[in-house]
Amino acid sequence: MSAELARLRVDYAGQDLDERTVHPDPFQQFRTWLDQALASNLKEPNAMALATATREGVPSCRMVLLKGFDPRGFVFFTNYSSSKGLELEQNPRAALTFYWAELERQVRVTGPVERVSARESDDYFAVRPPLARLGAAASPQSQVIPGRAWLKQRVESLQALHSDGDIPRPDDWGGYRVCPASFEFWQGRRNRLHDRILYTGEATAWSIVRLSP
Ligand SMILES: Cc1cc2nc3c(=O)[nH]c(=O)nc-3n(C[C@H](O)[C@H](O)[C@H](O)COP(=O)(O)O)c2cc1C
Repeated sequence: MSAELARLRVDYAGQDLDERTVHPDPFQQFRTWLDQALASNLKEPNAMALATATREGVPSCRMVLLKGFDPRGFVFFTNYSSSKGLELEQNPRAALTFYWAELERQVRVTGPVERVSARESDDYFAVRPPLARLGAAASPQSQVIPGRAWLKQRVESLQALHSDGDIPRPDDWGGYRVCPASFEFWQGRRNRLHDRILYTGEATAWSIVRLSP
């Protein structure tokens, strides 16, 4: 135990969250919190931890960026051949966690995962800045590579190949959608008596309960 870490303690004193007044639709509740996070000048309010697991249940977790949110679910983009991509092909379920420290809020989402349509991936790839498109196309994400110079060389070769700046979306790059089966909204409160509101269910039939902090 580190004494320095043990001493760290924050008492949350901001807002509250009540199962009687939350929105009956968790998508609307998330929209409200996301809008507040977006309006609060946070760094990367759309960053979320994404947990996946192999077929055998070995977990892994990393940050990704939320790029789409609607009644179908939460969309992020990545390389389909990456470690997460391979795990999602084997075991198409995931958990997401948002943490907005300044708002003393956490949101957890779980659910099955599907690929977005090729059209949706094309549309998002097309609006990425040219250098981000090049970077995505050049990087065999999660593979061992000989060094940074090798990657730079791949970018330069691709740049030369597509001198018109029109970099096509690689087949193994695109979006995934996490389709929520549960949402948990966590609001920090005084003396560790935090509010936790859990929604489970689907579409029009969500059940709402309070969990002990
Ligand atoms: C704030 C932040 C946002 C990130 N966003 C993405 C993203 O949207 N897509 C992505 O593929 N990787 C993103 N990354 C990199 C991933 O965390 C990870 O390193 C990469 O996707 C490889 O993960 P994997 O080997 O588990 O597949 C982000 C990293 C950080 C720190």
